[in-house]
Amino acid sequence: MSPSLDEVRAMDAADPLRACRERFFLPEGVIYLDGNSLGVLPMATMGRQREVVESEWGEELIRSWNSRGWIEAPQRVGAKIAPLIGAKANEVIVADSTSVNLFKLIVAAAALAPDRPVLLSEAGNFHTDLHIASGAAELARLRLDIAPRGEIEARLGADTNLLLLTHVHFKAGFRFDMAEMTARARAVGARVIWDLSHSAGAVPLDLNGSGAELAVGCGYKYLNGGPGAPSFLYVAESLQERLMSPLRGWMGHAAPFAFTDDYRPAPGIARFLAGTPPILGLAALECGVEAFAGAPVDRLWAKSIRLFDLFAALVEAHCPALTCISPREPERRGSHISFAHPHAFEICQALIADGVIGDFRAPDVIRFGLTPLYLGFEDIWEAVQRMRSILDSGRWREPRFAVRGKVT
Ligand SMILES: Cc1ncc(COP(=O)(O)O)c(C=O)c1O
Repeated sequence: MSPSLDEVRAMDAADPLRACRERFFLPEGVIYLDGNSLGVLPMATMGRQREVVESEWGEELIRSWNSRGWIEAPQRVGAKIAPLIGAKANEVIVADSTSVNLFKLIVAAAALAPDRPVLLSEAGNFHTDLHIASGAAELARLRLDIAPRGEIEARLGADTNLLLLTHVHFKAGFRFDMAEMTARARAVGARVIWDLSHSAGAVPLDLNGSGAELAVGCGYKYLNGGPGAPSFLYVAESLQERLMSPLRGWMGHAAPFAFTDDYRPAPGIARFLAGTPPILGLAALECGVEAFAGAPVDRLWAKSIRLFDLFAALVEAHCPALTCISPREPERRGSHISFAHPHAFEICQALIADGVIGDFRAPDVIRFGLTPLYLGFEDIWEAVQRMRSILDSGRWREPRFAVRGKVT
């Protein structure tokens, strides 16, 4: 049975994370269920961006590299992300995009096992991962083997150099068991690169405890770093001195301001920097990460489970035309919930017009991000009521809802 509105309100009243909502700018009348695609704006970011622009850039100008800590920002923000993913502070750095960081890690790690010719990944993995893998494989002289999810373990073998997996799948939210897959890969002598884009800041992660050695992840999703925020890259301490980034820019040099012709990698994780750090983006990401203060991931995850269960129960009761395609068991999924419907695109557009923002993933999926830091239980209730009205009235059939923009 689905809960009543009073019961849902009681859940909000008892929510220990309720106050965190005040840390974010949530537009009036909008129920934002797309924080797994672009996180919302933290209140602190507005003031901080103004400070960076006006005071640090405007007044202090180039002196800010030293005086305002700009030059250390990639490591500093990386260190703040580390506890969210179960890593040590010196194992995470912020740089470039997730796509570029993946490229760096694939090429760097592949060189450690030159006698192993296969880069293995999952069919239907997020497409940037597969596209980057194909280019990196060509350069590193690897053969890209793309296997259906259920066949990945069987394909791991003595020829596997790297296994590239997205921890939580972008579409239906299926999650790999990180410790188990890492152990399986290691048992045949292969390494795993994890894409944590739909995991970081959402599901409990223990990279160190799971034996993970290499990972990347998005800054603009659950970490609320803003559109196009720089990405983070993780390399286990034990591996750092053995890897060489294929993108050897001056910021990854041991002495960037020595201006030498030869390349000497910086010690540790800093060698994965390439060019000049994007300070405005880093400052915004830092605010996004700081917005997790006092909200441990375990507590966020416990709330995410309840948001998911509520969403699933309400849709089952009120929107039977939608089929939930996300796994029900919490340990098998991430923090979004997805539904299939042959007219998912149009329904999604009608919902957006009604102020409920989720997203469409081709060919037939509507996806809703459950972000416990700022979502309440009543938001879920209200979103499903609006969805029910759209489905019952058939309003999604209006021609305007079939018009497709470049971004869905
Ligand atoms: C699993 C995964 N990897 C990577 C990306 C994006 O990478 P980039 O920030 O380089 O565009 C996304 C974006 O949605 C994603 O879902």
